[in-house]
Amino acid sequence: MDPDRRARLIAEATRSRENAVADRSGFSVGAAVETEDGRIFGGCNVENATYGLTVCAERVAIWKALSEGARRFRAVAVVTGADVPTPPCGACRQILWEFAGDVPVVSATTGGRMKEYRMSELLPEPFDL
Ligand code: THU
Repeated sequence: MDPDRRARLIAEATRSRENAVADRSGFSVGAAVETEDGRIFGGCNVENATYGLTVCAERVAIWKALSEGARRFRAVAVVTGADVPTPPCGACRQILWEFAGDVPVVSATTGGRMKEYRMSELLPEPFDL
C-alpha cells in the first residue's frame, strides 16, 4: 500500500477507535475502508448487553460505506491497543472479501507496530458464490 495513503487510513481508523463502545471487553478497535475514488469511511466496534450482537469495527466501517453508496474499495486498516497487530476476525474476513475483494489490509497498533496482508492471504478459500 502506498505509504501516504496507508498513513491516512491508519489515522482515520485511530480516530474512529476513540468512539468504540467497548466497555464490556475493554478492547477498543478502529477500522477504516478506502474507496477506489479515495473516500474513507471509519468505524469502531460496538458491543451490547447480549455480547453476541457485538459488531466489529471492520464491519461497521464497511456497512457505513455501503450505506452511503460506496461499492468499490481499495484498502482496509484496523487499529487496536494490543501489543501486536491483530488481523480481522473470521466473520469480518468473509464480509471484507465479499464487498472489498482482494485488497490490502493493514493492521496497526496504537504503539506504532504494523503488519500488512492481502485479503486472499487472510481468507484463502472463500465462499463467494
Ligand atoms: N473486534 C473488532 O472490532 N475487530 C476485530 O478485528 C477483532 C475483534 C472487537 C469485537 C469485540 O468488541 C472486541 O473487539 C473484543 O473481541
